[in-house]
Amino acid sequence: MTLWQGRFGDEMAEIVSEFTVSSAFDWVLAADDITGSRAHVRGLGRSGVLTEREVEILLAALDRVDEEVASGRFVLGPEDEDVHTAIERRVTELAGDVGAKLHTGRSRNDQVATDLRLWCRRRLSQVASEVVALEEVLVGRATEVGDAYLPGYTHLQRAQPVLLAHHLLAHSWALSRDVDRLIATLERMDVSPLGAGALAGSSLPLDPDFVAEALGFHARFENSLDAVSDRDFVAEALFDIALLGVHLSRLGEEVVLWSTAEFGFCTLADAYATGSSMLPQKKNPDVAELARGKAGRFIGHLAGLLVTLKGLPLSYNRDLQEDKEPLIDSVDQVSMALRALAGLFATVEFHLDRMAAAADSSATAAVDLAEFLVERGVPFRKAHALVAGLVRDSIERHVPLAELVQAHPDLGDAGAKLLEPGVAVSRRTTPGGAGAAAVAEQLERFARRLDVDRTRLGVLAGEDPDLSAP
Ligand code: ARG
Repeated sequence: MTLWQGRFGDEMAEIVSEFTVSSAFDWVLAADDITGSRAHVRGLGRSGVLTEREVEILLAALDRVDEEVASGRFVLGPEDEDVHTAIERRVTELAGDVGAKLHTGRSRNDQVATDLRLWCRRRLSQVASEVVALEEVLVGRATEVGDAYLPGYTHLQRAQPVLLAHHLLAHSWALSRDVDRLIATLERMDVSPLGAGALAGSSLPLDPDFVAEALGFHARFENSLDAVSDRDFVAEALFDIALLGVHLSRLGEEVVLWSTAEFGFCTLADAYATGSSMLPQKKNPDVAELARGKAGRFIGHLAGLLVTLKGLPLSYNRDLQEDKEPLIDSVDQVSMALRALAGLFATVEFHLDRMAAAADSSATAAVDLAEFLVERGVPFRKAHALVAGLVRDSIERHVPLAELVQAHPDLGDAGAKLLEPGVAVSRRTTPGGAGAAAVAEQLERFARRLDVDRTRLGVLAGEDPDLSAP
C-alpha cells in the first residue's frame, strides 16, 4: 500500500509502480530529506501545530532513521515509491501515531524541491572545490616548469612559441570561470521552497521564513507555484557542468595529442595510463579520452532536462522527477573526471627538450622579423609581405630562413638573431602575453584569484572568511 492509497479502490498495476518508482536513484537525497524534515517538524512545533512532546518524538525518530541510512541498515521496501515516502514510512514505524503527523502541511512537491537544493548545495560546492584543486595542480606545474616553452598553435599549426606555464594557465583561467559560474549558481539557488505545499501554501500556520533559516537558506520562496515547479537551478547546474566538461574535454584532447609519439611532449605516469588487451606495447591515455568523452554526456543531460521542462504547465508535474538522474550522473561523473585529471597532471612528465625543439623552428619567429622591420619604420603590411617572401623562398629553394635573413640588407645579423632558439618567446612582453615577465605577473594574479575563490567557497560552506591581512 502506498501512502496515498486511501483515495483508490484498486491496487496499482505492477507496471505503474515499476514505471513511476524513483527510490533506486533518489535515495541519494535521504540525508537531505531528513534534514528538511527536521526543520519542518521544528517549524510545526513553533507554530503550535505539533506539541513539544510530538516534536521530540519525531526528531528522535528522524535521528534513528538518519543512523540507519548512514550505516546502510535502512532497508527500502517494495511499497517505497521514493525516498520521501520511504523515510516517512520508517518514521511512522518508529514513532507510531505521531509519525503520521510528519507530513502535516507539506507535500512531496515542496519537499523534493527542498531536498534537491540541499543536495546541490553540498555537491556543487564539492565540485567547485575539486575544480580549484585541479587549478592548483596546473598552477603548481606552471610554476615548476619555469621558462620552458613550446609552440603555441592556431589551426593546430605551429604559430608562435609560448611558455608552457602560459599554456597551462590558459586552461586554469577557463576553470576559474567554471568556479565562478558554480558559485553564482549556488548563490541563486539559495532559496527555500519549503512551505509551498503541493502548490498553493497551507491553511495551517506554517512559517516558511523560519524553516528557510533553519535550513541555512538565504531566503524563502516568493511564490508557491514557482517554488514547486522551478528547476532553473538544476538546468544551471547542468549547464555549468556541461561547460566545465567542455573545458576538461579540451584539456584531455591536448593530453591525447601531446602523449603521441608524433608530438612526444609528455609521458603519462603508469598510474594514470592504461594498457591494451592485445597490443603489448601500448600505453593509452584513457583518462584524458574519457575526460573528453564525458562532455558529450553532460551536454546531453543539459539538453534533455531543458526539453523536459519546456512544455510543462504550472506547477508540479511528475515529469520533474526526470531531473534527478541527469543531475546526479553529471555531478558524479564530473567529480571523477576532475580528480582523475588532477592526478594525471600532477604526475605527467613533460618533455621540455621536445617542446623547445618544436618551437625553435625559425618560421615561428617570422612575425618577430616583421615587427623588427616595423620598429625601423616599415609599414606592417609591407614587412609582412617581405618576410612571407623570405619564408617562401626558404621553402622553395631549400635554403635555411636564417641564411636568407642574414643576407637581407634590411635584416642582417640583428634579424638573424631573432631566429635563434628561445629568442622569440622572450620578446612576448605585453601584459597577458606569452613571455617570461608577463607570465610571472600572470602567475601572481592567478594565485590571488585562487585565494579569492577559496575564500568564497569557504563562505558558502559556512566558514568564517579570514579577514586578516595576507
Ligand atoms: N519523486 C517525485 C519527484 O522526484 C517526488 C514528488 C512526487 N510528487 C507527486 N505529486 N507525485 O518529483
